[in-house]
Amino acid sequence: MSIVRIKDKTFETSILEREIKQRVKELAQQLSKDLEGKNPLLLCVLNGSFIFAADLMREITIPCEISFVKLASYDGITSTEKVKEIIGLNTDLTGRTVVIVEDIVDTGRTMQQMLYSLSFHNPESIHICTLFVKPEKLIVNLDVEYAAFSIPNDFIVGYGLDFDQQGRGLKDIYTLKED
Ligand code: IMP
Ligand code: MG
Repeated sequence: MSIVRIKDKTFETSILEREIKQRVKELAQQLSKDLEGKNPLLLCVLNGSFIFAADLMREITIPCEISFVKLASYDGITSTEKVKEIIGLNTDLTGRTVVIVEDIVDTGRTMQQMLYSLSFHNPESIHICTLFVKPEKLIVNLDVEYAAFSIPNDFIVGYGLDFDQQGRGLKDIYTLKED
């Protein structure tokens, strides 16, 4: 077990690089089988999923394409709910098989908003592929078709995920230690 300090917090290893690689490979094999002949478009949601998307794409064995989006959030004018908007979508999704590649589905609100926004672009189908899902935190009804790991309700960093923009380059996943 190894420990890292990021700012004022302590994290310890919870999922090792080789376990991540193994699960990413398995997900890629499943996607390659399920979406054969569809030329899927991987839609990588920045920033958190850039490493996952790069590794996933290199394990997929069917023709596929990749595009990158970011979610901008701002305060809605009529409520305090955060409204998120997709920025950077420069690929025509009409008739496409879209695979949203996310780092983590927590409450699921981000993913729900993403699905809603993408539905206006007339894709043939949309599939959710996430590295992590926290089932205990999920508050919206989502079909998380492809998830590498279901994890407890703890805060994690590494393999693209950050704590206050730090820790994304860690090769293993680290979990916040309660002090
Ligand atoms: P949701 O809208 O609640 O599902 O939030 C998902 C977003 O919260 C993710 O895309 C991450 O950016 C962030 N997030 C949630 N849990 C964690 C975590 O454990 N570590 C790092 N980021 C997280
Ligand atoms: Mg994310």
